[in-house]
Parts: sequence; C-alpha cells; structure tokens
Amino acid sequence: MRGRIPDSFIDELLARVDIVDVIERRVPLKKAGREWTACCPFHNERTPSFYVSPAKQFFHCFGCGAHGSALKFLMDYERLEFPDAVEELAQSVGLTVPREGGDDRAQREDKTDLYALLDAAARWYENELPKSADAQAYCKKRGLDAATIQRFRIGWAPAGFDGVIKALGGSDKRMHLLNEAGMVASNERGNRYDRFRERLMFPILDRRGRVIAFGGRVLQSDQGPKYLNSPETPLFHKGRELFALWQVKQANPSLARIVVVEGYMDVIAMHQAGLPIAVATLGTATTPEHTEVLFRAAPDVVFCFDGDRAGRAAAWKALEAALPRLRDGRQAYFLFLPDGEDPDTLIRKEGKDGFEKRLKAATPLSEYFFSELSHDVDTASLDGRARLAERARPLIARLPDGAFRDLMAQELEKRTGARAVLEADPAARRPVQRPIVVQRSLVRSAIALLLAQPGVADQVERPYGFLRLDKPGVELLAELIDLARSRPGINPAMLVEHFAERPEYAALQKLMAAMVVGEPETQREEFLDALSRMEQQAVIQRRDYLTAKSREGTLDAAEKAELRELLAARVTPLKAE
Ligand code: GTP
Ligand code: MN
Repeated sequence: MRGRIPDSFIDELLARVDIVDVIERRVPLKKAGREWTACCPFHNERTPSFYVSPAKQFFHCFGCGAHGSALKFLMDYERLEFPDAVEELAQSVGLTVPREGGDDRAQREDKTDLYALLDAAARWYENELPKSADAQAYCKKRGLDAATIQRFRIGWAPAGFDGVIKALGGSDKRMHLLNEAGMVASNERGNRYDRFRERLMFPILDRRGRVIAFGGRVLQSDQGPKYLNSPETPLFHKGRELFALWQVKQANPSLARIVVVEGYMDVIAMHQAGLPIAVATLGTATTPEHTEVLFRAAPDVVFCFDGDRAGRAAAWKALEAALPRLRDGRQAYFLFLPDGEDPDTLIRKEGKDGFEKRLKAATPLSEYFFSELSHDVDTASLDGRARLAERARPLIARLPDGAFRDLMAQELEKRTGARAVLEADPAARRPVQRPIVVQRSLVRSAIALLLAQPGVADQVERPYGFLRLDKPGVELLAELIDLARSRPGINPAMLVEHFAERPEYAALQKLMAAMVVGEPETQREEFLDALSRMEQQAVIQRRDYLTAKSREGTLDAAEKAELRELLAARVTPLKAE
C-alpha cells in the first residue's frame, strides 16, 4: 500500500506547474488581459465565461461556477481521483510523488493494489488461452488473428472454481482485493469461487490503459448468459466506461470520427479490419457521461445500432443522452444496420470499404430526430403538426445554446409552423456581464484580498488586533495570514490547497474566485484598510457591549475604566457590514 502524499509535495507541485499550461493542453485558451479565457469545458456555452488566472494559478467559470487549482482541473476534466491527478501532474513536470508512512490505508484510499491485481488476472487469462484447444478453436472460428488477440489482451478463464483464486489469492489481503475487484463470487454458505469460468475473457481498460474489469463470453449458447461482466467496483462504473477507447486512442493520435457499436466482438472485428475507431458501451444504454467522453475523443460520433426494435430504442436513448452535449462543432450520426447483421458480420462480408461507405452515409441526428418524432403523426393535419411541435420542443430545449439549436428550432418551425419558444437550459445560460463581486463583509473581503495576493500578509504582525472582533471568519483570516507569512512567495492556489481537507475549503475556493479589482498596490492598501476597520469594529462592538452592561448596572471597576477610555476614543460607527 502506498503511503499518503505529503502536503509539502502538493505545494511544490503547484508551485512548479503553470495552470495555464495544464489547461491549455486540454482546452485551447485565448489571452484576455491578464487572464486567459475559453468556452467552459464543464458546461455548454457559446461565449466564453471560463477564466484562468496565471497570477492566482486558479480557474473559474462565471457561467457554471466551476473553479479551483490545476489539480482540481485535472480531477474534474480527466475525472481522476486526487492521488491520480497528483501523479499525472507530477509526471508532466518530471517529479516523482513521494509517499509518507507505509500502510496508512485509512488516510486516502489507494487503488494501486487493485490495478496490479486486475492486471495480473488479465495476464493469467492471457496465458491460459493457448492451453485451451476449445478456446483456440473458437477464436479461429470467429476469425480473430494473433495480433488482435494480443492488442485486446483476450484470454481464457478455464473451467474449475478456483483457478484465479489459486493463482492470485495467496493471502487474506489478496482475497480481499480479489473480492473488491469483482473477480470472485460466493455461494449461500459463504464459499468463494471464481466469477469467470469457461469464458473467453475481454479485459476492459480505462482511459490510461489499466485493466479495470472484464467481460467474458461463453463458447456455446447453452452455457448460461452469453456475456458476463464484472460488477460495479471502486474502479469500474459501467455508465462511464467505453470498451476499447484506449485502443482507439492508441491507434489514432487525432480522431475525426468515433463509432459506437453494441458488442465487444463488433468493436474487435472493426479494429481488426482496419477501422480502429470503434468503441462499445458495456451492455448498458448510452449515458450522457458516455457522450461527453465520446465527444472529447472526436467531434463526430456515429451511433451504430441493429435495425430491429431494440436497436431503435437504444438509438433513441443515445440521442437523448447526446442532446445536452451537442455544442457547436460536435455532430452525432445514426447508422442502422440491415436485419440480422451486426458490425462484426457486416465488415466480414463487405470489408473495410463497404463499412466505411455505410458510415459516410449515416443519418445526421437532426434528420433522425424529425423522422422518428413524426413517424406516427400526420404532418398534413393541424393536429399532427401540433403534436410534433409538442414532442420536439422540450427536446430541442435540451440542446446547448448555439447555432445548432437555432437551426433545429427553425426546422421545427418550418415543419409545423409553430414557433419554438425555448426556455434556455439553465446550466447553459451565461451571465450578461462578468460580475464584479463586491464583498459586503469586511472579513470576507480581507480574505479575498489576501487570496488574490498572499504577499500582502507580510506587513501584518501578531498580535492581530482584528482578532478581538467577534465575527465568523476572523480565526480563519488569522490562520491564512500566518500561513502566508511563513511561506514567502506562496501562490493563492497553494494557500487554498492547504485547506483541502477542511470544511472551509469550498468557501475559500469561492472567495479566491471572487473578482478583486484594482492594481496590486491598491489591493494591498485595501487589505490593510480592511484589517484596521475590523479593529475599529471590534472596539465598537466592545463599547456597545459595555454600554449595555452599564445600563444594567453590572459593570465592575475595570470595565468602567475601559468603557470610559473607549468613549473617549470616539470611534465613529462604520456603515459597512
Ligand atoms: P457475439 O457476436 O454473439 O459474440 O456477441 P456480440 O458482440 O454481437 O454481442 P450482442 O450483440 O449479442 O450483445 C451486445 C453486447 O451486449 C455484448 O457485447 C455485451 O456487452 C452485452 N450482452 C449480450 N448478451 C449479454 C448477456 O447475456 N449478459 C450481459 N450482461 N450482457 C450481454
Ligand atoms: Mn455479434
């Protein structure tokens, strides 16, 4: 088990990377004054409201509120767990992630052992394949060549109940891992046995090429369910993963079109036939998460389905999942295959060229959309047109704001005569202007100013007078000042990252994102001014308290003296707060 990543390393890492670089590599940025900007990768929009600040080492979207450091960006964008995001970021700047303590699994869950175990299982199945004459014969019958078997790491789970358990479950810890990885099942008596037996094994890889699950196919149709997949595990979420996305990415440095088919064997046949652009969902309907992953892989996505009823239903589900992701520049197509055929059988009959022809002739989403919605309505009648409009409107409203949405609305109008008055998708609505956040509370504005420029803390010395103010946030402000003073040169993202595991983290990130206007020098003055106004407020607070107490006649001698002094000092109440 790897140990915990020390905080000091996170500091060093965030100091070493430039957030603009990290994001630019994934989302093209444009310079905008001191900052960089783009259309937000976390929601759909036409006008950029996503900003990256090199000074703050921080990103923020004024449209959807997404924000954070370079690490947070990687976690959200690449959907990585914290330790994986750290690894990836560290790799990009040539640092090795140090680990403290050996075995503190309570700290952060570390999945290295699970990955290693699943990889070992895949290797074990691969080694078993040549030993089984039946499995070999089946591969031959299905036309799988050696290179394909190797590329997809196809293997064989032999008969027997404990092949994997014997090979890999040597200790309690390993048995526990096998169980967690979904490789074993247990009967009513609690006896554990191999989940996959007598099946051709297809490892499912994540987007970094690591084995996270398996699909297994029986050789004969009477041997139970045709395909058996790993259950959901900490590493495997069906609704997110796509079979062969790794192989597609390996084969195509840049990709104009990606094809989604239904089966493992369809994907594999297409790759083998020279079309390494196919992926499959894992026996589930296409989810919006899938479509986002697909569109990040390629601007054109072709959904390929059987022409039967089940295929049509699945295609419509895919369309619904795609709608909210169809921002300008992305296009979805639908390809229905002749009855009784699937991509595997077709590409063997028609070859790569034949299949490519079909792909090129796939139906654009807009066309499929209207033909499907109007297939049982009579658009010659007023009623029929009204019904079509009624069906189409809420779906068109799910499209992100953009030219495509406008065109679909126009098309609906043309077909029905009905105006498509559309409620904008609230997530896609963009602010009219970049809001300038004016922090009403002094404490909050002091924190925001400090986060904008941690260097301003240099001029503040303990004891902090503002600590006498009884207001939420003053302790936090003091802590931030201490931290900033103890680490000269710390940048805002690093400062906030120190609070990653504290409840204040979210609030701090928001404050860091708050727009602080003005030149650095003005900001420094404002910060110091905020502190002294807090001190004044503390004095007023104390004076009011003592005055109230004196009305009750309960002041002691020392308090009386203090109140006299406070009244003499005559601090004028402030309007702020
Ligand atoms: P073959 O060509 O018969 O090997 O299969 P295929 O790849 O053409 O698959 P098929 O069209 O029968 O099914 C498509 C996908 O649905 C498969 O790749 C599996 O992911 C999934 N699937 C099919 N049958 C089953 C089943 O019995 N159980 C589960 N869980 N999934 C299945
Ligand atoms: Mn098939």
